[in-house]
Amino acid sequence: MNPKTTSKKKEKLEVFIKNSDFFEFDRHHEGYYALDTTGRYVRVNETCEQATGFNKEELYELTYKDLLVMDDLEAVKERFHRVLSGEIQHFTCLVQTKNREKREIEVTNTPIIVDSEIIGVYGTAKDMTEVNNTKRDLEESEALHRSIVEHSPDGVLIVQNDRIIFVNQTATSLLGAKNKEEIIARHIKEFFCHSKEDPFPSYAKEAIQGASSVLYEKELVTVKGTKVELGMKYIPTIYKGEHALYIMLRDLTEKKLAHDMMVYSEKLSVAGQLAAGIAHEIRNPITAIKGFLQLMEDDTNYRKDYFPVLTAEMNRIELILSELLALAKPQLKDYKPMNVAKILQHVIALTKSQAILHNITIKPFIHLHSVSIVCDENKIKQVFINFIKNAIEAMSDTSGTISVYAKQNEDGCVLIEIVDEGPGIPKEIVKKIGTPFFTTKENGTGLGIMVSQEIIKQHNGELKIDSNDAGTKISVRFPVHI
Ligand SMILES: Nc1ncnc2c1ncn2[C@@H]1O[C@H](COP(=O)(O)OP(=O)(O)OP(=O)(O)O)[C@@H](O)[C@H]1O
Ligand SMILES: [Mg+2]
Repeated sequence: MNPKTTSKKKEKLEVFIKNSDFFEFDRHHEGYYALDTTGRYVRVNETCEQATGFNKEELYELTYKDLLVMDDLEAVKERFHRVLSGEIQHFTCLVQTKNREKREIEVTNTPIIVDSEIIGVYGTAKDMTEVNNTKRDLEESEALHRSIVEHSPDGVLIVQNDRIIFVNQTATSLLGAKNKEEIIARHIKEFFCHSKEDPFPSYAKEAIQGASSVLYEKELVTVKGTKVELGMKYIPTIYKGEHALYIMLRDLTEKKLAHDMMVYSEKLSVAGQLAAGIAHEIRNPITAIKGFLQLMEDDTNYRKDYFPVLTAEMNRIELILSELLALAKPQLKDYKPMNVAKILQHVIALTKSQAILHNITIKPFIHLHSVSIVCDENKIKQVFINFIKNAIEAMSDTSGTISVYAKQNEDGCVLIEIVDEGPGIPKEIVKKIGTPFFTTKENGTGLGIMVSQEIIKQHNGELKIDSNDAGTKISVRFPVHI
């Protein structure tokens, strides 16, 4: 451009600015500036100084290009030329301040037209850095939350006014749908068994009022009509300013499988332990019996005194087998409410004669009035016989007293305690108690406690063994029949 024309335009621009009150708003939150046609700053307000870090004198030595980051230069230059050809431009660019900080500026550049001639550019600049950063942070945090919810291994449903308004991928597949559209906008009731049922239990209603529910199990119906058992939890939330329910769905299949596997393997290991023990325990008497049979074969005048030994060995096999039979799951038909005091009195009567033989007294302290437990009477008797027999065997050399206590506890259970004055169970043995065939007795089978433990478990009872060198206390509790 002709330098003469340029300076003429500059003069006109000076006059225009002088007469304009546009640049008077020094403390305005937006920056105001004027550029000559070469892009040099000819007027700036205070906000421009604050935003760029350059003072007015420094800025008047610069063009807009000096403030731009390299990447934006060409695009902004292009926009500047458009303004010079009469177009208003609105854009965002990155500006570098005096101390090399980058700021995001929203710019509107307008041509200054005097006598139908464009003599410069005036513009407004708004520092959007903080606003944009906050917006970006918000967007990022929203995206993060969305992705956490979307990829959560738990299913998520958001329900408002009983309609599903959000579903994540996991919930989509848990409810048997191929895509979210199959679920969105549907009534939550459709996924509950029997549509008559109120879909929301009381804690879901509580959740609407502000408290999360517990995780509970519920059978739902998938879109395919099949049933699934899921863990559900209701969490109150707000969606678009209104109360909504955040429903968490958890697939319990694996948990159940793992639990079943655990129970199964536990059973297997008990069965394995038992099998090994039985084989071992029965082999001994069988070896003896075989030995005697051989003797009898060789010795045609076999001796009569072989018979008691044979019978004893057979009895032992029988004893082991009968103990093992008690382990078989009891038949429900054998379960009846039975008076606990009567059972205990019967057991004491049965064991008394053996106790007397060893100079042992069995003292009952039974404070129960018509308290019953639902049980298989014979099995419960067997439990107490086992414990009293152990107590007698522990005290057989020392004599003394076995106390049998029975009372109803405050928690509604009946508590039975068998306390002996024997030498106690050594610590290293306590750990092994309940292991099949663990015995310290010459003629013991080592099944007594294990079988008793199993029977107590079958009756929803609990067993506790406390022992020290002053004796052993066996505590058994059962739920009372009301
Ligand atoms: N009251 C007790 N005092 C001291 N030791 C005990 C007592 N009860 C059990 N024990 C110890 O625990 C072991 C296991 O007891 P358990 O009743 O299971 O089998 P057992 O008595 O050896 O054999 P079985 O009961 O088949 O005759 C016993 O051999 C003994 O060492
Ligand atoms: Mg025993």
